[in-house]
Amino acid sequence: MSEVVYGSEIAKDIKENLKVKIDQLKAEGKRIPKLVVVLVGDNQASLSYVRGKEKACQFVGMENELITLPETTTQEELLSLIERLNLDTAVDGILVQLPLPAHIKEKDIIHAIDPNKDVDGFHPCNVGKLMLNEETFVSCTPKGIIRILETIGYDDLSGKRAVVVGRSNIVGKPIAQLLLNKNATVTICHSRTQDIENVCKEADILIAAIGKAKYINRNWVKEGAVVIDVGINRDENNKMCGDVDFEDVKEVCSYITPVPKGVGPMTIAMLLENTLQSYHKREG
Ligand code: GUN
Repeated sequence: MSEVVYGSEIAKDIKENLKVKIDQLKAEGKRIPKLVVVLVGDNQASLSYVRGKEKACQFVGMENELITLPETTTQEELLSLIERLNLDTAVDGILVQLPLPAHIKEKDIIHAIDPNKDVDGFHPCNVGKLMLNEETFVSCTPKGIIRILETIGYDDLSGKRAVVVGRSNIVGKPIAQLLLNKNATVTICHSRTQDIENVCKEADILIAAIGKAKYINRNWVKEGAVVIDVGINRDENNKMCGDVDFEDVKEVCSYITPVPKGVGPMTIAMLLENTLQSYHKREG
């Protein structure tokens, strides 16, 4: 039997801590950190994520602005908005919600965001710094996973084997790098990996970020492993579920994160932390 690790509870503590810090800034009459979220089009999942970010900003007392643009927005229009936000000294963090409509090149947009305001940690400058183990904006979901490991006291990763399932730029690659920076021996698996089940079974820490509902069952998991589930999927009954078959795997691992209430809330808490980090870089 395992311990279920509720990221939602860890995230709540982090947000309460941030609220105290922002209240302090307010009491001192200082400028308040500000996050701007840009949403293009009307992707319902994106809209719900963006609302979650808005609510969290309000909870901690951070300034936040949501800019919603129509699906028909051109790349040039979006780039000129980003240019304006880059120059706006009241803005600490800029987040352009992905995915973008097909006619806009995500890469061009990510490159256009000032790396010093890139609270997503997606800009190549920040990704490069992560690879060099230099201080930078670390993308929010991977950063949240590391914080979960630290919270459960599982962050001395020397000699540990970590397996990451999924190689996205947002989760798979950066979490692999963060685990490596903490001295884990890291393997990244993906759709072309042979014998994936047995590779996963070697993991002391298994990170599932593939986007396939309940893909990983107990046969993939070593007894006593720590299992972190990043997936957000719908099962056959349209119920939200992760990439891990939670009920099955929880019988064999030591710690497991649920979906919902696991990694998701940590992502938002880390976004707020990154925005405050950006603020302090600017304001001291
Ligand atoms: N879409 C899904 N996750 C994310 C994220 O972390 N940041 C942005 N900008 N878009 C996303």
